Amino acid sequence: MTKNKNNQPIWSSRIKKNSNNLFRKVGGSLDIDKRLFNEDISASIVHTEMLFKQKIINFKIKNKIVWGLNRIKNEIIKKKFPFDKNLEDIHMNIEKRLFDLVGEDAGFIHTARSRNDQVITDFKIWLKKSTYEITKTLDALISTVLKVADKNIKTVMPGFTHLKNAQPISFAHYMMAYVEMFKRDKKRFKNNLDALNENPLGVAALSGTSFNIDRNFTTKKLNFSKPTDNSIDTVSDRDFVLDFLYACSACSIHISRIAEEFIIWNSDAYNLIHLNDKIVTGSSIMPQKKNPDPLEYLRGKTGSSFGNLFSMLTILKGLPLSYFKDLQDDKELVFKSYDQLKISLNLLNDIFKNFSVNKKEMLSLANKGYL
Ligand code: ARG
Repeated sequence: MTKNKNNQPIWSSRIKKNSNNLFRKVGGSLDIDKRLFNEDISASIVHTEMLFKQKIINFKIKNKIVWGLNRIKNEIIKKKFPFDKNLEDIHMNIEKRLFDLVGEDAGFIHTARSRNDQVITDFKIWLKKSTYEITKTLDALISTVLKVADKNIKTVMPGFTHLKNAQPISFAHYMMAYVEMFKRDKKRFKNNLDALNENPLGVAALSGTSFNIDRNFTTKKLNFSKPTDNSIDTVSDRDFVLDFLYACSACSIHISRIAEEFIIWNSDAYNLIHLNDKIVTGSSIMPQKKNPDPLEYLRGKTGSSFGNLFSMLTILKGLPLSYFKDLQDDKELVFKSYDQLKISLNLLNDIFKNFSVNKKEMLSLANKGYL
């Protein structure tokens, strides 16, 4: 919790005792949400500029706060920031440090703002950036798949239904099916941008503020497209989190289906593709083995992505409006899904660059089963 100048929690005049030790240890989110420091500082600077523009704070205080925030940003980047786990999250860490740097005037940063709208604002800014990152990673993957397809227009393989030979097809045709899957993934991530582009800042704890704030100003400065409409919904809503986690899960399903397919084709029974040494591992007891571990890894990790989506669905089920501590877990779930998906997409890209097609075997299999 943020402490005042006597190093007491900010709410110490109301709550006389320190909170339970165990809860103090597990109830914080600093290790997770310190990742939002950049977004938090940018949003705080814009909020401060808005307070000044609206004549809620004066020029001197605005400059002090903005100076302090920029300095804090530098300290964090240079790994010189004194993180304190006793302060619940990144927001309270930054605010406390601002008090150290500029004194009591730091308190004005909390004018007309609660952590409830602050957290979602930071999170939405982060999610927009990360949505863009994922679509870029998908573009790179698509371009690799296109190259594989381009080289295999005349490679004949059996097309399967029920994993039985069905009709002869081109291997390029097959690879292009993957392109469609990844194009839909891109669209699914982008569809969430409408929700992510609504600015939560200004709804404060749940019902707005009596200060004469300008939400259109912060909306424009923070690159949102409009302010959110209902303040109670704004602090309670995590649909944009569900959509992001679902998009991650759907993309993971595609990765997993492809991985499974490649595992089958690489098996000794099928022998349709060859994985080069960069993307196989050996066995500790059978020196002849070359195992498709990276593909199995990709298939396996899909489970964690579903788990994160299901955790968020379950957290929201039956949760009354508006903010509850339950919601704090949203960030950990999203960060885990995002990090994993990026790793998986990059790994799949490397796999596509490191396999070859056994054209002869493909043709010979295509000649079986009355094709
Ligand atoms: N660490 C909290 C979170 O990430 C901050 C929100 C705090 N709001 C509150 N009303 N306690 O969700």
